[in-house]
This record gives sequence, structure tokens and C-alpha cells, in this order.
Amino acid sequence: MDAPKEIRVRVPASSANLGPGFDALALALDLPLRCTLRPSPGGLRIRATGTDAAAIPQDESNLVWKTFSQLAGNKAGHDFTLEIANQIPLGRGLGSSAAAIVAGLALADAWMGFHSGRQRLVELATGLEGHPDNVAAAVLGGLVASCQTEDGRVLTAPLGVPKEITVVVVVPELRLSTEAARAVLPPQYSRADAVFNVQRAALFLAALESGRWELLREAMRDRLHQPFRASLIPGLAEALQLENVPGLLGVALSGAGPSVIALCRGPAEPAGEAISACFRRREIFCETKILSIDSQGLFLEAD
Ligand code: HSE
Repeated sequence: MDAPKEIRVRVPASSANLGPGFDALALALDLPLRCTLRPSPGGLRIRATGTDAAAIPQDESNLVWKTFSQLAGNKAGHDFTLEIANQIPLGRGLGSSAAAIVAGLALADAWMGFHSGRQRLVELATGLEGHPDNVAAAVLGGLVASCQTEDGRVLTAPLGVPKEITVVVVVPELRLSTEAARAVLPPQYSRADAVFNVQRAALFLAALESGRWELLREAMRDRLHQPFRASLIPGLAEALQLENVPGLLGVALSGAGPSVIALCRGPAEPAGEAISACFRRREIFCETKILSIDSQGLFLEAD
């Protein structure tokens, strides 16, 4: 079979944890990373446009390219043009690195003609990202529960999200690496804190399934990561305490932060305004994005 002339991938952003589901839950959001790869003589050329384009490396250190070459190996060579059109803010807790890894793997998989399938891509991406939540949502779309088994497999279960739910993400002008946001977490937790999170993660899924919206506020509380990360993100503690905002059902730190996600019913603007006010009071500028849930996940086309 001839090698493709051009491969295009689209990978959504994702918001992990949703409060209590630390390293286990993530929601794919309609804010995509799009990459196009085509063979072109004369060595590697990378062009990045869109959100944070100036911070996207345009050389071999680019994460999409690095991941592509890891899977494709020397066989593929360097004679490619990689065009990146990005809408995912970098380093803000919206799964930008997971999306780049998934894009690189999917491009390599298609270029090499492996046809590995989504499950294999989730496993490979989890190996590179270190935890399965963002990559599972980025590949599968929607709300996804994931876990790693003791023998290294990754199990995923996509779940429906009720149409009534609207989403707002507030993106503060602060960058936080996942590494730094994980470094502040304690090595051990008490039984009370573990039980607190297990109860709420179960309640969160059951509340969505049964439409018991009034449970979401409590169901999105967490003791495993948010209280520790609040020390790195001025305004977060106040945002997590918000109450009585019209339409607001529950608030959580998005992934490792610093963005904050709110699930709402009806218009999400009041929740977005209330959360950004918490950051503004700390003199942190932020952008508010009302987003649809992405139910498609990874999308790939090759000619
Ligand atoms: N579950 C991860 C964390 C997501 O909270 O550290 C960030 O990549």
C-alpha cells in the first residue's frame, strides 16, 4: 500500500479529575488541536498557529513530532512538514500535552499503517503521559473513567453526559506545569481523605446518571489534590467555595490547573463571571470559555 500523501488529526482538549476523580476521570472539550503531516523533501519543517503558537517549539523538540518519531522510529525519516493549528492553552490544565501526545501517536500509527486502534493508542499515550485520564478522554471523547491495572493495562469506560449540562472554563494568565502541580501533593493520605474522595467520585457519576443536579456541588469536592494546589493558584480556594450563583452546579480545578471548570445548567455566563472575579480580586487576568463537550475524541483522515 502507498504511504499517504497527507494525514490530518484533530484531538480535543480535556479537563481531568472533575474534583474527586484524581487521575481517573476526564471530560473532552470542544477546543481542538489540529495537526497535518505531509511528506516534503528537505528535512523537518514545523509551523504552529493559533493559541500560544509562539510557545510551541518548531524544531525536533516539538512534542507532536517527538511522539511521532518515537513510534515511527528511524524508518520514517525527517522529510516532513507538520502544520499545527492549536486552540488549547498550554500549561493551563486543559490537556495540551495529552492532546499533543495523542496527535503524534495517531500520525505515526497512520503513517506506518499500523492501524493499532483506539485502545492501543490510549495505552501508548498513558505510558508517555504517566496517567490515563486526559489521554483517554482525548482519544475517546466525552466523559471517560479510566484506570491502570496492576499488570500495566489501561481500562476505560466512556460515559454519557446529560445534554442539560453546560461547561465553562476560566483560564487564568498563569502557567503551571503538571510536574510542579504534582510535586506539592503529599506521598500519603489518611483513610478519612481517601473515603471522602471515593464517596464523592461515586456520587458524581451517580448524580450525572440520575440527573440529581443538586448533588454535584458536594460531589465535586476533593481532598486529594485541590487543597494542596490552592497554594500555587491564588483565587482557587475562593472559586471552589462559590455558592448561589445562578446555573452553577459544581466547580473544580481543571486537571492540574490553574484553569477552573464549572458544570452548569442553563447559561454558564454567571458562573464564568463569578469564577473570574475570584482571580481578578487577586489581580490575575483570565479568559472565560464557554465550551461544548466533545463527544468524538480523536479524529483522523488520510489521503
Ligand atoms: N490527573 C492529573 C493531575 C491531570 O491532576 O495531576 C494532569 O495532567
